[in-house]
Amino acid sequence: MVGTNQVVAQAQQRSGLTVRGDEFLLDGEPFRILAGEMHYFRTHPDHWRNRLDRMRALGLNSVDTYVAWNFHEPRRGAIDFTGWRDIVRFVETAAEAGLKVVVRPGPYICAEWDFGGLPAWLLADPDLPLRCDEPAYRDLVDEWFGELLPRLAPLQATRGGPVIAFQVENEYGSYGNDQAHLDHLRNTMRGNGIDSLLFCSNGPSEWMLRGGNLPDELATVNFSGDPAEPFAALRRYQPEGPLWCTEFWDGWFDHWGEPHNTTDPVETAADVEKMLAAGASVSLYMAVGGTNFGWWAGANYDDAKATYQPTITSYDYDAPIGEAGELTAKFHRIREVIARHEPVPDGPLPPLPPRLPAQRVKPDATAGLLESLDALGEPVHRSAPVHMEALGQPYGLIHYRTRVQGPRETAGLRVRGLADRALVFADGEPLGTLDRNDPQGSVEVPVPRESVLLDLLVDTGGRINFGQRLNDPKGITDRVLHGSQALFGWEIRPLPLDDLSGLRFRPGAAPAGPAFHRATLRIGEPADGFLALPGWEKGMVWLNGFLLGRYWSIGPQRTLYAPSPLWRKGENELVVLELHRPGGSVELRPEPDLG
Ligand code: GLA
Repeated sequence: MVGTNQVVAQAQQRSGLTVRGDEFLLDGEPFRILAGEMHYFRTHPDHWRNRLDRMRALGLNSVDTYVAWNFHEPRRGAIDFTGWRDIVRFVETAAEAGLKVVVRPGPYICAEWDFGGLPAWLLADPDLPLRCDEPAYRDLVDEWFGELLPRLAPLQATRGGPVIAFQVENEYGSYGNDQAHLDHLRNTMRGNGIDSLLFCSNGPSEWMLRGGNLPDELATVNFSGDPAEPFAALRRYQPEGPLWCTEFWDGWFDHWGEPHNTTDPVETAADVEKMLAAGASVSLYMAVGGTNFGWWAGANYDDAKATYQPTITSYDYDAPIGEAGELTAKFHRIREVIARHEPVPDGPLPPLPPRLPAQRVKPDATAGLLESLDALGEPVHRSAPVHMEALGQPYGLIHYRTRVQGPRETAGLRVRGLADRALVFADGEPLGTLDRNDPQGSVEVPVPRESVLLDLLVDTGGRINFGQRLNDPKGITDRVLHGSQALFGWEIRPLPLDDLSGLRFRPGAAPAGPAFHRATLRIGEPADGFLALPGWEKGMVWLNGFLLGRYWSIGPQRTLYAPSPLWRKGENELVVLELHRPGGSVELRPEPDLG
């Protein structure tokens, strides 16, 4: 049970956000949090202000953001708070747009983000205990919080800044019940100068509330739909204190190969109306969804169906403010609701950001991937296969090569511990694809001659970000079997693909199998665009060296968002890595198509 009396007692001593009975006070005055979630890591930094202004125009008074540890420290020790990773600048920009800030530093954040925001290097040892009070995990988190939190502490409202509250962990009750873990995170936050209001946010089930809250801190709930029952559940757990829905799911995300999710704007706004009528505070998840650029998309695992479900590149989320800054029907319905309860800024609404006109280009040069391996990374040699994290590789593809002696009987090739798909080649010829979701699947490999050179190119989806299968190392964690014989003696090559400058493109058609295809797009003034790859099967797209993300013909997403700051006036270089079968041309379109 929350010790509301203690929270109340603190309220009288402190500035910033405090609790009095069932309400929040900001610097002593009654305050309702009308927040929207936006992730600085999912929106190009040149667009931060644009999107925050739209949130303010919606009538919100605050922005909540997660902090993605892996975005700042993809490789151990190489911590980056500059440019796109300048969270201090994001907070200051929010303040300039007239918004308060709620920070959710995790370090686990879920969020459909690779590994729930945890850095891949934690998986160098896939048995490392996560999200509990084991020293091996705790010490690493403390080091990271020691870097992050002192940067945020001076920005707190308790010191005159815009940051009003911090979340501890994320929906921890859905995962575990280690009170020592939550307590330790709180102490680490306090020890790094965080003196703001703390809260724990959880789903509204009893077991989630019991396992995921700290008795002396504010409890909040996350849900979609009618707020009556979730708020009643919160009341049963915490009889006194402000009601705050810290994640009101106003849309939803998509997996590859599943239908695109949308929610009805009128119903969504009606649920917001009920919360505001009840005097509650609310955070719209998401206000601005954004994009899983690069390799950053996460994944889910459906235990009932034993199925890995990779998340798509777009994180539009069917949010009120679209991936490209669109003010959707949901924006207008929610704004009307807010205006009935709180003042919304008047004046004209921000216009749709400009867009590039349609055009179509054909790639004019190609480079086969298997022929380009030396330009893409250094190999290591191991007896048995190992996963990429064990080699210090945070993301990308990974290649395994061995020689199988013959002649011998044709046998099926299987991979135990595959994440997530393996393209199999014998002497350079594509033989087929293995998939994590078909663990018994095999590809027949004949070895009629003295030997065969076997190549496995492992294609990866995002790391699982939710549930008990969070430890999701990529590549091959176990054995490759030919028939019942394990194959040993591997050349393993990490392919992070963060530098393609060594590729030697040649004019003309690509060789069979995975290949890079290069095209030049000429434009006038830079503006937003959407890239479609009709007839292409699966791969990634770079625009002027920036990885926009993954595409896949199984949908639902059919266009990739290419925001204006990535374009140059004049010539722009597009590189497509197609893993299977290239289409004829690439299209630049003025409209998104999310399926
Ligand atoms: C939970 C998590 C969020 C996100 C949503 C679904 O509420 O806390 O990070 O994963 O689910 O979008």
